[in-house]
Amino acid sequence: MRIDLDTLDAKERHKLLNGTVVPRPIGWISTVDGDGRRNLAPFSWFTIAASTPPVLMFSVGSRDGVLKDTATNAVATGGFVANVASGDLVKAMNDTSVEAPDHVDEFDFANLDATPSERVAAPRVSAAPVSFECETLHHYAIPEGGNTVVFGRVLLAHVRDGLRDAQGYVDVRALDPVARLAGLDYASLGDVFAVARPAWPPDDDSAGA
Ligand SMILES: Cc1cc2nc3c(=O)[nH]c(=O)nc-3n(C[C@H](O)[C@H](O)[C@H](O)COP(=O)(O)O)c2cc1C
Repeated sequence: MRIDLDTLDAKERHKLLNGTVVPRPIGWISTVDGDGRRNLAPFSWFTIAASTPPVLMFSVGSRDGVLKDTATNAVATGGFVANVASGDLVKAMNDTSVEAPDHVDEFDFANLDATPSERVAAPRVSAAPVSFECETLHHYAIPEGGNTVVFGRVLLAHVRDGLRDAQGYVDVRALDPVARLAGLDYASLGDVFAVARPAWPPDDDSAGA
């Protein structure tokens, strides 16, 4: 089946993209507004943009033509925290996606403790296994549709003790990240397997296989 995405309506396009670019990690983003009011919401259009310098990015949509608070706050205050949601935090993470008025504090709504950050105004989720304090580096409003992509340079990482081994590798099983699928579906880590990178030139046994 060939699909010209311009022939789909917005919902169908969303379903196709959101259902195939899976599983997605979740950036659980805390911010404050200009008056210091706390905000917390999950974003699965989230990934690493660079490791040197360390940059994370996430894409925020609009509601009724108005950009969601997280992006507005990250741009206005110059910072945010990207927290990792582990399996035990799924309910709280989902609760913070509530489409509530902007004065509602999602930390309180989801009964989550907050820990003050050191480099940015937004607090982090105390229970998160990993939190990245980020300085907003850049934002890009995608023409049409109302999404803004926010880029943030990681200034400080808070990593739960025991998650990194002596070589600096993260124990992904212990991290237990929640991944986003589509609709109401999520996934946790299934099989984890290793695949060696190909060598060049190929050795005789693998050549042409
Ligand atoms: C797991 C999950 C992932 C989400 N990912 C996104 C996303 O990538 N972009 C987006 O605009 N909204 C996303 N949402 C919806 C927002 O979390 C929701 O609109 C939230 O109320 C936004 O809060 P804010 O207005 O305080 O920024 C997601 C919701 C859930 C539950």
